[in-house]
Amino acid sequence: MSFFYRILYRLGFTPWEEAAKHGPMREMTASLLDREQAGHEPPFGSALDLGCGGGLWSIELARRGWDVTGVDLVPKALSTARERAREAGVEVRFIEGDVTALRAADVGSGFRLVWDLGTVHGLTPAQRAAVGREVSAVAAPDATLLMLAWAPGRRGPMPRGASREDIEAAFAGWHVTDDDAVDVSEANVPRPVKKAQPRWYRLRRDGQS
Ligand SMILES: C[S@@+](CC[C@H](N)C(=O)[O-])C[C@H]1O[C@@H](n2cnc3c(N)ncnc32)[C@H](O)[C@@H]1O
Repeated sequence: MSFFYRILYRLGFTPWEEAAKHGPMREMTASLLDREQAGHEPPFGSALDLGCGGGLWSIELARRGWDVTGVDLVPKALSTARERAREAGVEVRFIEGDVTALRAADVGSGFRLVWDLGTVHGLTPAQRAAVGREVSAVAAPDATLLMLAWAPGRRGPMPRGASREDIEAAFAGWHVTDDDAVDVSEANVPRPVKKAQPRWYRLRRDGQS
């Protein structure tokens, strides 16, 4: 999977960034984040962006008042992310590392928000379970995890997706509190993405609502 992304970043082909500009997607992400921020004033605490890529969402979180760490495997994506953060005038800590080994990547701990737009659903079940263990180790006791995942399916080299059950299996000690479909019918994305039935999942640790 990392080879696939290295090629795409080298070609400058990042369709997920196009999808992010799409109205319904933007509105949905905004309302998900508004919910986590409701009743608090910035700074909201620390946020971890899993597979931050070119940094679009890390920068959005930082603009909103989160103290953000973004982690990704692909150096080219991270150099774009650093450049964009500079241009946006926000501070983000971008780290080269694997989301299945967050502690080895030294990302820190106590994250109140863990954000995953498009990374974990492309991993194998064993890798997803490793992410679950690592996120549990670095997240705060009251953390929220927001994850976008496509429905399971074979789509050539593209992510194979993950069901709600797959996600719950990977994140032991967490439960899904919300599970909402994203409307990409009008988005400027490749056809397989339109058919992928993306959903946003909100997870909290057991005992938290
Ligand atoms: C679909 S892209 C999404 C990027 C970013 N979240 C966004 O929305 O712009 C998936 C990202 O996950 C990264 N990635 C894939 N597997 C990874 C892993 N095991 N560890 C860290 N990053 C990974 C890729 O390099 C890529 O940047």
